[in-house]
Amino acid sequence: MAFNVETNFGQGKVFGRKLHNFPIFRYKKGANVIFCVAIGPTQVPQLPWKLIFNEKERPLLSNEKFGIYGGKFVPETLISSLTKLDYEFYSALHDPQFQMELEVALRDYVGRETPLHFAQRLTDYYKSINKGIGPDIYLKREDLNHGGAHKINNAIAQAMLAKRIGFKNVVVSTGAGQHGVATAAACAKLSLECTIFMGSLDMGDMERQPSNVLLMKNLGAKVKSVKGSFKDAMSEGIRYWVNNLDKTYFLVGATIGSHPCPTMIREFQTIIGKETRKQAMEKWGGKPHVLVACVGSGSNALGLFHEFIQDDHVRLIGVEASGTGLDSDQHSAAMARGQVGVYHGAMSYLLQDEEGQVIVPYSISVGLEYPGVSPELSFLKDKGRIEFSTVTDEEALEAYKRLCRLEGIIPSLEASHAIAFLDKLCYTLKDGEKVIINLSGHGEKDAAFVFNHTPNHE
Ligand SMILES: Cc1ncc(COP(=O)(O)O)c(C=O)c1O
Repeated sequence: MAFNVETNFGQGKVFGRKLHNFPIFRYKKGANVIFCVAIGPTQVPQLPWKLIFNEKERPLLSNEKFGIYGGKFVPETLISSLTKLDYEFYSALHDPQFQMELEVALRDYVGRETPLHFAQRLTDYYKSINKGIGPDIYLKREDLNHGGAHKINNAIAQAMLAKRIGFKNVVVSTGAGQHGVATAAACAKLSLECTIFMGSLDMGDMERQPSNVLLMKNLGAKVKSVKGSFKDAMSEGIRYWVNNLDKTYFLVGATIGSHPCPTMIREFQTIIGKETRKQAMEKWGGKPHVLVACVGSGSNALGLFHEFIQDDHVRLIGVEASGTGLDSDQHSAAMARGQVGVYHGAMSYLLQDEEGQVIVPYSISVGLEYPGVSPELSFLKDKGRIEFSTVTDEEALEAYKRLCRLEGIIPSLEASHAIAFLDKLCYTLKDGEKVIINLSGHGEKDAAFVFNHTPNHE
């Protein structure tokens, strides 16, 4: 197997041999020999070879797996598109021009940096029920981003990437609609056509989050209803993308799907943790003791946690939705009750029955309803680096109201799960320890629902 290829160093020859079923190619340039992993003999000539090498002659490929998790469990016909996306993502990541443009967009359009707010009355509340002892509670205000959630951090970056590659059409799957709103806004700004798939029928996501549907339409996106929930919208988005590979950029908003999506989305969300480290240093001259985030797919959690993974003394806690209870079949707790499986092209913890069929997830909070979870979080759970816990619908509703009344801040029902976890956490901590909750989104979208589930509307 030998190919003549055009690279950014001019013509070269590539030789191949099989290793663990992957072809390894050798490219000779003068006396140098460069090794890189490529995607498969039949697709080699179509690869964008010029993107494989950077100036330092290093292969531009990201890790495909987190231990056993992640990967590309897709038909062979999709491999070259995913590999091309990986090259494009990595080349953008190393391109100072792209990074500078992204920095400006995050600052001037998204509204970063988001504040790290000291929640004085919430802190006092927990101290008052534990003999005056309790942690200092801070909120990372991702709800203040343009669009009302962390989703825009990734949506704007990927929309810029889509444009840079040359796509004119973007397709999206959304659950709570926050990713849909963020992407519709980013597409309007960058003059890209946007088609959004969202679950519908019998109190599906479109009926549960109607305000976001209106926002997406007002922003010029086409919203297509899919029978079912987010997982079905995701499947429909993938189907659409597969049929329009050359014309359409599938803009994934969660740390799920085939490589490079989980890595790419996490990378575009790490701004949350980077800012948090700087702000903690400014506010109290050290690191936080505990970071807490809700977990649907894991993008806001990894966005906050990733920066601190090497800081062994910083506890990282992900909170899943246990719905009406872990022992009911109405929950969304893939870490607590899932087993390892493959879904939407990647391996992760997954809610499945004895025959491996996916169990339909449930939560009061639409954005936490997904049967799988990020491959990277799955890996970090096995390593013991991230702790996981769960919060029920009722506990999340209480937390929503508590934050409204104590801090004058309206959290999304997703973020309310992280806030509710304080009930379990606070009395285990020393006085004055610093806890940061990722307030992943604004709760305006959930206001009517919460109001209708409040006895006597009080
Ligand atoms: C506000 C908000 N927070 C959290 C999530 C959960 O997603 P992830 O775990 O990827 O952050 C969603 C998903 O839609 C959301 O809208």
